[in-house]
Amino acid sequence: MNILHIDCSPRDESHSRQLSSAVVARLRGKNAGTDVTYRDLGRHPIPHTGTDYAIALSSPATLAEGPRNSAFQLSEQLIREVEAAEVLVIGTPMNNFTVPSVLKAWIDQILRIGRTFSSSSEGKVGLLRDRPVFICVASGGVFAGDRANQPDFLTPYMKVALGCVGLMELYFLPLQATAFLDQEQLATARDSLIAKVDLDEILFNLT
Ligand SMILES: Cc1cc2nc3c(=O)[nH]c(=O)nc-3n(C[C@H](O)[C@H](O)[C@H](O)COP(=O)(O)O)c2cc1C
Repeated sequence: MNILHIDCSPRDESHSRQLSSAVVARLRGKNAGTDVTYRDLGRHPIPHTGTDYAIALSSPATLAEGPRNSAFQLSEQLIREVEAAEVLVIGTPMNNFTVPSVLKAWIDQILRIGRTFSSSSEGKVGLLRDRPVFICVASGGVFAGDRANQPDFLTPYMKVALGCVGLMELYFLPLQATAFLDQEQLATARDSLIAKVDLDEILFNLT
């Protein structure tokens, strides 16, 4: 099994890193011979899409060149990492109610018309094969559940953005209130989040 593991926090003591690593470790434990491709967007951010990319996207002729156009090189590399993976595990902080800009920069390279989605009168149609995506979110406060006291643009945004390319099987693991819980409480919260995911069922569906 191939896993694409992405982390987005800039912090060494990151809770989302710990959670995503724990999910990867559990997947590894259940599958001998698992390969992991690791993208550390938090420590090594990819550049934001620039002029070349915007121009290349805006004309049918340059779009048709696909990976032969140098503006699409990074996009192509990142999309191939997704295509090569059976499972994606994304660790991300919530920043100002949504994803951090390093993750947005990755999304801007992955959602490419004519490559990962097409456009129809009904809307956008994903062109990638669906696969499980674990989204391990750390937030200082509470955004989901009965005690939520702030808006959540991260969850609906990720559903729409990943759904646009055909990734619909999303498992959100929100590790909330990191600003208020102590290490022991955080470890308990992390364990109970992971326990909620039936990895056996997910892995069974993959075979
Ligand atoms: C720029 C910035 C914006 C943040 N915005 C939010 C927010 O909107 N909601 C929230 O609950 N926590 C917010 N936080 C707190 C982080 O989500 C929290 O510290 C989280 O644990 C960070 O993830 P990490 O532990 O993986 O680094 C923000 C932190 C930073 C640095």
